[in-house]
Amino acid sequence: MRAKWCRAFPGLAEQVPQARHFVAALLAEQGPVDDAVLIVSELATNAVRHTLSGSAGGWFLVVVGFGDDLVRIEVVDQGGDRVPHLCDVTGQEEGGRGLLLIAACAKDWGVKNWPDGRSVWADLAREGM
Ligand SMILES: Nc1ncnc2c1ncn2[C@@H]1O[C@H](COP(=O)(O)OP(=O)(O)OP(=O)(O)O)[C@@H](O)[C@H]1O
Ligand SMILES: [Mg+2]
Repeated sequence: MRAKWCRAFPGLAEQVPQARHFVAALLAEQGPVDDAVLIVSELATNAVRHTLSGSAGGWFLVVVGFGDDLVRIEVVDQGGDRVPHLCDVTGQEEGGRGLLLIAACAKDWGVKNWPDGRSVWADLAREGM
């Protein structure tokens, strides 16, 4: 990565728009801003809803890395009992679509495990920027 930016947010649903603004401002005119905003929105929402980041005093981190050909959006959470996984949404009316959306629009994505949490990341191509 040529440059990396990181910001911590309180683990509250109302902070998800703040995370979107952070990413949109960083990517303005130098990256795929719409896809990046969608990805950080889904990842930050998952951190708050599905991990200890959403408990009292919790937090999540947003990391944006710029490479020559790609932008990596990563959200670090505080972990817990659940594990990120793609859902089978056949016949399901709502829910379980966030990671599927990310898998569809990202070049690649994945999960890293840390001693006290996890991060979920997604890479977007910077071609044509
Ligand atoms: N950061 C995470 N840590 C632990 N588990 C996670 C994390 N993100 C997602 N998960 C698990 O993976 C499942 C699928 O996540 P996904 O975002 O696709 O769906 P959802 O959050 O349940 O619904 P939606 O995003 O459509 O509102 C979640 O239901 C949750 O159990
Ligand atoms: Mg989700």
